[in-house]
Amino acid sequence: MQAATYKEFGGADKIEVTTVTLPEVKEGEVLVRIKAAGVNPVDAAVREGYLKDFLPYKFPIIPGWDMAGVIEERGFSARRFEVGDAVYAYARRPVVQHGTFAEYIVIPESYLSAKPENISFEEAAGIPLVGLTAYQSLFDAGQLQQGQTVLILGGSGGVGSLGIQLAKAKGATVIGVASQKNHTFMKELGADFTIDYKDQDVGAATKKIAPDGVDLIFDCASGETLQQSLSALKPSGKLVSILNQGQDLDKSIDFEYVFVEPNSSQLDKLRAFTEAGQLKVHVSHTYSLQQTAEALTQIQTLHTKGKIVITP
Ligand SMILES: NC(=O)c1ccc[n+]([C@@H]2O[C@H](COP(=O)([O-])OP(=O)(O)OC[C@H]3O[C@@H](n4cnc5c(N)ncnc54)[C@H](OP(=O)(O)O)[C@@H]3O)[C@@H](O)[C@H]2O)c1
Repeated sequence: MQAATYKEFGGADKIEVTTVTLPEVKEGEVLVRIKAAGVNPVDAAVREGYLKDFLPYKFPIIPGWDMAGVIEERGFSARRFEVGDAVYAYARRPVVQHGTFAEYIVIPESYLSAKPENISFEEAAGIPLVGLTAYQSLFDAGQLQQGQTVLILGGSGGVGSLGIQLAKAKGATVIGVASQKNHTFMKELGADFTIDYKDQDVGAATKKIAPDGVDLIFDCASGETLQQSLSALKPSGKLVSILNQGQDLDKSIDFEYVFVEPNSSQLDKLRAFTEAGQLKVHVSHTYSLQQTAEALTQIQTLHTKGKIVITP
């Protein structure tokens, strides 16, 4: 099969699209023909070697953790899906090696969930990693409740754009933070209020909207924006970050760092939100497998609107 690969950590020039041998389909595994693979900032971070001390890896590495595709073959005991079924997955395995920027993947069927029926493969491939991140941050760590107010830092990106919609589906009031050019987009996703992080203090701007402060800050941006926003957190409020692991944070803050975990039951829930019309994915650009390096360079800017995907 054709796959994007790299043999050592480094920049975009390390990516080579080449022919690789498909692994054998073992017990409990399935072979999936990948129709689309979502691109995430972490794919570039892993390639740079930033996570090499935390995640075991084996070269050559096929990057990519998101995918939507069709079951082509089932291993012994893999019986949850039929050949021909459309599925989607957050395919991060214990060892970084067999990713989704490829024509096929062999993967334990436990990672898979049925693809939402009402959206394209490209849109479905944009959901798993960011959707699970938003779900686990807002609902598991953040315990967001109906009627509460949540401030989402980085509301127009992959995680934030799904986070806004999940928070609205829960019945929360949502304040989205991104640059001015993305404010209409965040409103279309359901944000009740929007704040530009440039040229103003985000905490003060939030207090103008919610004078008593917010119940939850969901941090997908960090840096100065996060530090400013803390003045708008209620004393009883919680901070959930997917970037900051506690550095430079006052110990009195109720804080949790989330690193997204594969969870096919939660993918089932995200499918239900999607099929109910409560979750949409904005795919801003589609790249070919040959353009993998370009896609990874774009995602590294941290200014992607919605999602970008690769169609192998
Ligand atoms: N821990 C985890 O499990 C986990 C999971 C997923 C992602 N992440 C990390 O979380 C971050 C966001 O991921 P993503 O996929 O959503 O990225 P993304 O698609 O690139 O989105 C980035 C978002 O941040 C906004 N932004 C950029 N600079 C900002 C600033 N200074 N203040 C406020 N907002 C700013 C962008 O808006 P504008 O373009 O308008 O500036 C955009 O909305 C990445 O660093 C990623 O690696 C962590």
